[in-house]
Amino acid sequence: MAEPRGGREQWASRRGFVLAAVGCAVGLGNVWRFPYTVAEHGGAAFVLVYLVLTAAVGVPLLLAELALGRRGAAGPVVALGRLGGPRWQWLGWAFVAGVAAMLAYYGVIGGWTLRYVAAYFAGHAPTDPATFFSEAATGPGAAAALLAFLAMSAAIVARGVRGGIERLATCLLPLLAATIGGLACYAATLDGAAQAYTYLLRPDFDALRSLDTWSHAAGQTFFSLSLGMGAMLTFGSYLARSDGLARSSIGIAAADLMVALIAGLAVFPLLFALGGAGDVAENAIGALFIAIPSAFAGLGTAGEVLGLLFFAALAVGAWTSAVAMLEVVVAAVVEATGARRAPVTWALAAGIAVVGLAPALDRSVLAWMDRLAGELFAVAGGLVLALFVGWFMQDPAREIGGPGSVLPRVWVGAIRVVVPAVLAVLLWSALGSTWAAATAGLPG
Ligand code: ALA
Repeated sequence: MAEPRGGREQWASRRGFVLAAVGCAVGLGNVWRFPYTVAEHGGAAFVLVYLVLTAAVGVPLLLAELALGRRGAAGPVVALGRLGGPRWQWLGWAFVAGVAAMLAYYGVIGGWTLRYVAAYFAGHAPTDPATFFSEAATGPGAAAALLAFLAMSAAIVARGVRGGIERLATCLLPLLAATIGGLACYAATLDGAAQAYTYLLRPDFDALRSLDTWSHAAGQTFFSLSLGMGAMLTFGSYLARSDGLARSSIGIAAADLMVALIAGLAVFPLLFALGGAGDVAENAIGALFIAIPSAFAGLGTAGEVLGLLFFAALAVGAWTSAVAMLEVVVAAVVEATGARRAPVTWALAAGIAVVGLAPALDRSVLAWMDRLAGELFAVAGGLVLALFVGWFMQDPAREIGGPGSVLPRVWVGAIRVVVPAVLAVLLWSALGSTWAAATAGLPG
């Protein structure tokens, strides 16, 4: 990698950056959220829409965030201020507040994964998974697990970009990929596999015509790729000028998609073969945490090993993503105040833990935060970032190639017109369905 710019820390290697960005993307979104969102919104039709949106909207926007971060050489507040003028800084702070809210509830679910890992590790696999989940997911135990999870994340972020975030992803992501891949291979040997693959791969074309399917798929794309929350922007700010952004963006999006699909290929056969498919659509947020232990419960020691591997992989994914979210908040505050990274990190993690008490103590608050901070905020953030890069940043094409090449022109066209138009329609639809759900007392 090239020399540091203005003394700013940079990734140690391109591979390290790509792994850290994949770690930021791959997480609960791929393994916990993807299967139940697929089950709630039309099975294979949803998967197809998700593929289309990842390629047509996710990749151009990922590129835009990385380009913006690299050009601004800072997190969202300072980068937007530098490139757009001081009045844009408020938007940077909106990203910081949104991602902090997201981490507050994401950390609660991260805490659940730790409790499951601890239970399987100690040989106390849940024998009554629904009761275990309701005790683990809400209340003082959930708050304590949230604290432990946020402390683990702060311990990494306090060490900085190379020594903390990059090292964590480099060590653990290959293990996560191998575990999920291994579980998918095991699942392929089960009797329910064929039924599950049909469910995942044969679309119901009526669902394709529903705007609701598209808006939930957009929310899932943004959640899964960590877009519209300033995370990829902040990661881009640690890149050297010489790094090829287009290739990295495609690689990151492809890896995230692969993990979601492989997780689907692992989770659905397990549920169809071993029971629990009904739990996924009915229990949404708690789906996986009830259905997977139910599926493993009848397998004796093998079930305990599989359960440990599954929840350890989920915990690792959640950890690398939470670290990225915390980095957005820490980088913004360090850049704005000049304070030292380590104390800022611990103080902010403590503040986020306080906000996280609400979702830790009430699961309906968690469901609402997931809908508002996890989906709507991210899609709205993506829309604003696309407009900023497309219309306010000078010569964005320069970030990804020479003026004569085709790729930069196509990308700028997408980011100026196609991405904002698609996102505006989907955001409108999502706001409508959220409003309808709110008046019915449910998170949409
Ligand atoms: N992108 C992160 C995930 O999928 C937030 O969990």
